Amino acid sequence: MSEEMVIAVPEAVARAAHIDRAKYQAMYARSVSDPEGFWAEHGKRIDWIKPYSKIKEVSYDAEDLHIRWFHDGTLNASANCLDRHLATRGDQTAILWEGDDPNESKAITYRELHAEVSKFANVLKALGVEKGDRVTIYLPMIPEAAVAMLACARVGAIHSVVFGGFSPDSLANRIQDCDSTIVITADEGLRGGRKVPLKKNADAALASCPSCKTCVVVRRTGGAVEMKDGRDHWYHDLMLAASADCPPAEMRAEDPLFILYTSGSTGKPKGVLHTTGGYMVYASMTHEYVFDYKPGEVYWCTADVGWVTGHTYILYGPLANGAITLMFEGVPNYPDASRFWQVVDKHDVNIFYTAPTAIRALMREGEELVKKTSRKSLRLLGSVGEPINPEAWLWYHRVVGDERCPIVDTWWQTETGGILITPLPGATDLKPGSATLPFFGVKPMLVDNDGNVLEGATEGNLCIADSWPGQMRTVYGDHDRFIQTYFSTFKGRYFTGDGCRRDADGYYWITGRVDDVINVSGHRMGTAEVESALVAHSKVAEAAVVGYPHDIKGQGIYAYVTLNVGEEPTEELRKELVQWVRREIGPIASPDLIQWAPALPKTRSGKIMRRILRKIAANEHDQLGDTSTLADPAVVDDLVGNRMNRA
Ligand code: WT7
Repeated sequence: MSEEMVIAVPEAVARAAHIDRAKYQAMYARSVSDPEGFWAEHGKRIDWIKPYSKIKEVSYDAEDLHIRWFHDGTLNASANCLDRHLATRGDQTAILWEGDDPNESKAITYRELHAEVSKFANVLKALGVEKGDRVTIYLPMIPEAAVAMLACARVGAIHSVVFGGFSPDSLANRIQDCDSTIVITADEGLRGGRKVPLKKNADAALASCPSCKTCVVVRRTGGAVEMKDGRDHWYHDLMLAASADCPPAEMRAEDPLFILYTSGSTGKPKGVLHTTGGYMVYASMTHEYVFDYKPGEVYWCTADVGWVTGHTYILYGPLANGAITLMFEGVPNYPDASRFWQVVDKHDVNIFYTAPTAIRALMREGEELVKKTSRKSLRLLGSVGEPINPEAWLWYHRVVGDERCPIVDTWWQTETGGILITPLPGATDLKPGSATLPFFGVKPMLVDNDGNVLEGATEGNLCIADSWPGQMRTVYGDHDRFIQTYFSTFKGRYFTGDGCRRDADGYYWITGRVDDVINVSGHRMGTAEVESALVAHSKVAEAAVVGYPHDIKGQGIYAYVTLNVGEEPTEELRKELVQWVRREIGPIASPDLIQWAPALPKTRSGKIMRRILRKIAANEHDQLGDTSTLADPAVVDDLVGNRMNRA
């Protein structure tokens, strides 16, 4: 092992794990030398209605791009999450729900969940939802979110879950983009004791979505909402009359399962499309091996179902494996900053999976809040969403895990459907800050900016050389954009958008995005989206947005704003612009810092030089590099002189 700190796999962990080092090496070698044979075997972990005979049909060639797995097989995702478990663990808890209020929780068994999902599937049918229709889900973290998603899967409808923190405009754009005819929402959400006006937001969104004719409303808080005759229905009213018998639709492996919108470096968010067979195989296999899941264990992923982590590792992966999956409505610091550990003790959580931003925020609150809880049920910790700095990693390991629990730092993306680079707890020695080694079937490669493949210890652009079953299949409604975004920068390879270092042991260290995407508290944000929100304000002439290092959020949002001639750059206007962006996109897009820019640094051809703006925002203006191509170099001096102090 090389220079960095190494934490070896504890003997006892290796002995008890599904996969130890020898097994990982043998299975990995086979998975990349004989992918057909490997996946033919592992595809069977899912129940198929009609077994597949075809395994992998893939071309990464832009001229003929296609990705198909298990193509001639048929299955149903909800049957894999529910029906297959009824005989063996029907009365075991499927979803362990913990409310925002610490006095509110409930356990839902596989049998109960099966009945609820079947009923709601019948409700959807009665509302006219058919195979292939798009259903938008805008719900808080309540069991009905899982019910709605699985009910869509049951009837073969494609769900598009929109995070409850998004604005009416963002919701409307997503409804329109996939021509969704129905929205499922709640009266209000509840987070940290505060109410989120979901139905009100949905009403505002639906005003600009004339083809969306139905809205189902779950009663969560009992808050007053307006119900529009003929369009809006209460969930509980519809469920009263629904039968709990709904045979699962037979879906082809490549039929779409869901769309999930995610930000890119340009334009509006992309509808990432995942299909059924390969996704289910990959979700269930990664969940079992990465988290070393054993029957009966309580597994908790703190993500929101509005993100891919919630789809794959709260819902589809764990339920396909018959796991007990904990679903948490609240936030880490309510009623106080020991909530996570209180919940761990309350429900005897064994496996805990969260984001670095949460760890950093809790770290700041001090050890006492953690140490006063037992946490003895914990045996494995996970991290996801952004690079975890070694300091936070070591704190997580020492303070939360009492140096007993391995940490799996899992690298993946909305596009990848599941985890691609990760330790396996019984197989991989850990290095704080490294996502370590590829999962089975995954072939990472580093390339330079000209696409040359780099070998050995090196740093470059992270690409994946070949397909894995959980890979996205297209951008909904825009296959060209799919090809352009992921397969054109480096011909014949999937380009992740991340930079990465590989050390002498072959370990991967993700260094962050190399495109104009920023990662704010584990939430992915296109700088272009924030810019277009800013320029939509009547006083703004031009805006450029970059990320800058932020102690808690990982990256903060730094906006350079040029006002229209005659507008006064006041503190009030600064606050107004922050509010404006919140309203346009959602709170997660709020700029942390806004600097008034008399002008932006541009090349003679008019292109904004973001490299320079990033350096100024990061307080590295002594490393601006070559500025000779600027049309007006004096612009930079002004920006450096008036740089905002970082939070
Ligand atoms: C981007 C994907 C994967 C689900 C949550 C985010 C960054 C994600 C890690 C990690 C370093 C990470 C990457 C990636 N990222 N996990 N363990 N270490 N970076 O999904 O919103 O699609 O964002 O998040 O930059 O490209 P997403």
